[in-house]
Amino acid sequence: MARHDRQWASAAAAATTLLLLPLLLAHLPTAAAAAELNLPSYHYSDPIKVECMNRSAETGEHIQLANNEIEWVPFPVCNETNKPLEFHYGIEGEVTCTIPMVSDPFFHLLEFYLHADAPLMCRLANRPTPHVETVGERPYTPEYIPLVFALAGTLQMSHLHIATHLNVLLHSTPKHHIHPHDSGVIDSGIAYSTSPLAHNVPGSEGAGGRTAAAAENSRRLIIGDPLPLTFSVRWFPTPQLPKTEGRVEWSGMGNHVGPSTIFYGLVAFLAGVIVSAVYFFGTVLPRRLKSRSLGGATPLGYGIGTSSGGVGNGWGIATKRAMD
Ligand SMILES: *[C@@H]1O[C@H](CO)[C@@H](O)[C@H](O)[C@H]1NC(C)=O
Ligand SMILES: *[C@@H]1O[C@H](CO)[C@@H](O)[C@H](O)[C@H]1NC(C)=O
Repeated sequence: MARHDRQWASAAAAATTLLLLPLLLAHLPTAAAAAELNLPSYHYSDPIKVECMNRSAETGEHIQLANNEIEWVPFPVCNETNKPLEFHYGIEGEVTCTIPMVSDPFFHLLEFYLHADAPLMCRLANRPTPHVETVGERPYTPEYIPLVFALAGTLQMSHLHIATHLNVLLHSTPKHHIHPHDSGVIDSGIAYSTSPLAHNVPGSEGAGGRTAAAAENSRRLIIGDPLPLTFSVRWFPTPQLPKTEGRVEWSGMGNHVGPSTIFYGLVAFLAGVIVSAVYFFGTVLPRRLKSRSLGGATPLGYGIGTSSGGVGNGWGIATKRAMD
């Protein structure tokens, strides 16, 4: 019986190889991808500046420069770093950015954001600006991906409630396997407030309660208050979201056992499978065909050499054996 199992395993592996071969070939480098390699790309932990549309505090409309271009200004300065908000390529975790004092114009802008009259529209350079410029080459102009901060909250007569915790999801363009690490290029992103209704929950403004954590991230704000923003930043190696239901789930770029490891594991496994398949079909199978006809236990034996009387049922389950 052990021999049947082995035959079945080899044949199944060979079939898997045939099915996966196109996938494997799709990962081979192309000329276009090779040209892309000359463009700058982020390295792990490189800072990424967040720039936002400058808006008029009176109307909420964006400021237009003389050349009709939109004015992009740095995100407000965080008290923690004394710098405008930055993310770091591939780095996941909690980022705190306390805007030390909400000015009168900024308060009015927050009203526009919360009321969804205008988005808190920001952007990130998809690739870093190179430090050295090659003489004679056109200076590299970065392209930007939009990053909307979907701030949520409610407006009151004298104050506003703002959900100060935001999830930030950032995607890289898919990694090319000739790159040693991540692609280093940002594909897309989004930031959104979590639990925007937390301040409505009875008792949430008081002590304790089952929504205490959510209530903690809901701020009652007046002009002059500090605004403590917290961001849970997660990175994804492709534009796709992680899959569950028994499939590979992305656990972060900082984690070295990620899909890339799994991909290379798969390549190594397939290489092994191909060698076994070649050996099986090139050496073992002809030898066995010579010695005896295929029996009922051979999945691929259906319709081949049925002189023994046993016919495979296609699933490698032996029905009856004429001889062995
Ligand atoms: C945004 O635009 C306003 C109005 O033109 C201007 O006063 C302000 O300085 C600009 N903000 C920044 C950070 O440049
Ligand atoms: C800002 O940082 C300084 C120095 O760390 C600290 O004393 C101050 O309380 C902070 N302000 C806010 C609003 O968090």
